Amino acid sequence: MNLDELYQEVILDHSKNPRNKTELENFTHEAKGHNPLCGDQISIQIIMKGEEISDVKFTGAGCAISTASASILTEAIKGKSKNEIEKIFENFHNLVTGNKTEEDLGKLTIFEGVQKYPVRIKCATLSWHALMAAINGEKETSTE
Ligand code: FES
Repeated sequence: MNLDELYQEVILDHSKNPRNKTELENFTHEAKGHNPLCGDQISIQIIMKGEEISDVKFTGAGCAISTASASILTEAIKGKSKNEIEKIFENFHNLVTGNKTEEDLGKLTIFEGVQKYPVRIKCATLSWHALMAAINGEKETSTE
């Protein structure tokens, strides 16, 4: 199995069995992300204690890439601070748009392949836009 196939497997696994796809009780912030290209929506709920995101869950319907991305996002950001998450998102955005990243993004690297498919970039970033909106106290955002 080459690296591309391995990445495909991980994306498939997370889209079929998404982690943390449920409502979060006692959330402090929530925002809905909307992809105008396809109409898909993903909502992110977080519990923010001071600057730290202590828990995160998502709901909504999207394609395999947006679902897998939301699932992996929840694993990647739990316990991180707002500043750390902003940095991760900046690097993740650079990764999927084909720009240079400054840090090793670990599992998030599996989305590197979407840079070849511009329409898919919005799928991979949908949940991230929702997360950033939630962190910043907004209720809704769109990938436009
Ligand atoms: Fe709608 Fe991917 S096709 S988010």
